[in-house]
Amino acid sequence: MTIAQDLIGRAERRQALFGIVGLGYVGLPLAIELANAGFRVLGFDVQQNVVDGLNAGHSHVKDVTDAQLQTAVRTGRFTATSDMCRLAEPDAVSICVPTPLSKFKDPDVSYIVAATEAVKQTLRRGQAIILESTTYPGTTREILLPALESTGLTVGQDFFLAFSPERVDPGNAHYGTRNTPKVVGGITKDCIRVAVALYQPAIDTLVPVSTTEAAELVKLLENTFRSVNIGLVNEMAIVCDKLGVDVWEVIEAAATKPFGFMKFLPGPGLGGHCIPVDPHYLAWKMRGLNYKTRFIDLAGELNTEMPLFWVRKVAEALNGQGKAVRGAAVLVLGIAYKRDIDDIRESPALDIIHLLEGQGATVSYADPHVPAFTEDGHEFHSVALDPATVAGADCVMIVTDHTAVDYHMIKRHARLVVDTRNAMPKED
Ligand SMILES: NC(=O)c1ccc[n+]([C@@H]2O[C@H](COP(=O)([O-])OP(=O)(O)OC[C@H]3O[C@@H](n4cnc5c(N)ncnc54)[C@H](O)[C@@H]3O)[C@@H](O)[C@H]2O)c1
Repeated sequence: MTIAQDLIGRAERRQALFGIVGLGYVGLPLAIELANAGFRVLGFDVQQNVVDGLNAGHSHVKDVTDAQLQTAVRTGRFTATSDMCRLAEPDAVSICVPTPLSKFKDPDVSYIVAATEAVKQTLRRGQAIILESTTYPGTTREILLPALESTGLTVGQDFFLAFSPERVDPGNAHYGTRNTPKVVGGITKDCIRVAVALYQPAIDTLVPVSTTEAAELVKLLENTFRSVNIGLVNEMAIVCDKLGVDVWEVIEAAATKPFGFMKFLPGPGLGGHCIPVDPHYLAWKMRGLNYKTRFIDLAGELNTEMPLFWVRKVAEALNGQGKAVRGAAVLVLGIAYKRDIDDIRESPALDIIHLLEGQGATVSYADPHVPAFTEDGHEFHSVALDPATVAGADCVMIVTDHTAVDYHMIKRHARLVVDTRNAMPKED
């Protein structure tokens, strides 16, 4: 029996031990889904407080409840550790570490490099390594493969190497790790077969592609598609504003076309760890090949300008009431980058607050999912969203529309509303 067949058999019998490196928004849900499928999972994270919290049954990721985590911990299916030497134990290691941008919007693959280095230290025959972090095409082959083969082990024979992009959509009640089809590309054919077999028990649909580059590019196409279409619809919002046409009416009417149109919504700009970040990974890679990715750059430009567009709308609205931005009390409603989640990474609300404060406004915020946050050393605490607070603001600016917010109450009590997300009820 080859080691590929052995690993595939262990996966089918749920006897393979999984290691998940990086227990954040992506790694933790994946770990719990694998545990639910019957695997034992060893989670690795460099943050000791994250590890301790998880072992004590406290989930720091909204998509995983404490009850789900506690079941996995109690049954011995999930344990977290910060001891990277234990990376020798798992048969399969999925790497789910962050891939941010540097100050100059270049890829920062330092977390991938560090995780690869840790995996390399204990790499042994019969292990499968699967990178999940979103990254530019070529990363698996150019960074992981040489590092892992420097141990003297050979890919496809001694160990297996694959890339499988995570598609988690935090806060999505319909699609989670299990029922979202998962793309898998490998360095060799056996790498693909092994990776597919490992994920099969936990994921309903697997989509094998021929190379790791194809799998890396799938994720970047998906996120670039979103960025470009959001850029387009944001531009349409600016166009409609200048023409005095209701952009929401136009979009809803266009969306009645049963083919050839896909509805995207304008808003305050892009946020989160993915859509504003990932396309730059591809743009960077292509710059190195003397190709300028024009759609990516243009969409990035349009989406980045949206906070400024909306701050201008606040200024105009205040002006209409004979008030200046300077000295105005502005209540920003919703600070998370999208509905019903607690993640503020890259949130356009932060830019909006910064711009408003820069123009002399006194800014407070309310967000049922984000009780407090720190930005540039300045601590912010969510105010209570009650009639008195709403009535006390010169302007309420809706940035993220959360389900838990009572917009009828806001409509009744606010002196002025600027709504970037069309959240306000149209009729009482
Ligand atoms: N958040 C999303 O919605 C989402 C969706 C799809 C893909 N992704 C991609 O998945 C990857 C992970 O994103 P995330 O949102 O889960 O990040 P995250 O910041 O929530 O979690 C990453 C975790 O990795 C840990 N870590 C960092 N370096 C480590 C190392 N060397 N060893 C062990 N642990 C380490 C961190 O402590 C952190 O807990 C990124 O590439 C991201 O682009 C994210």
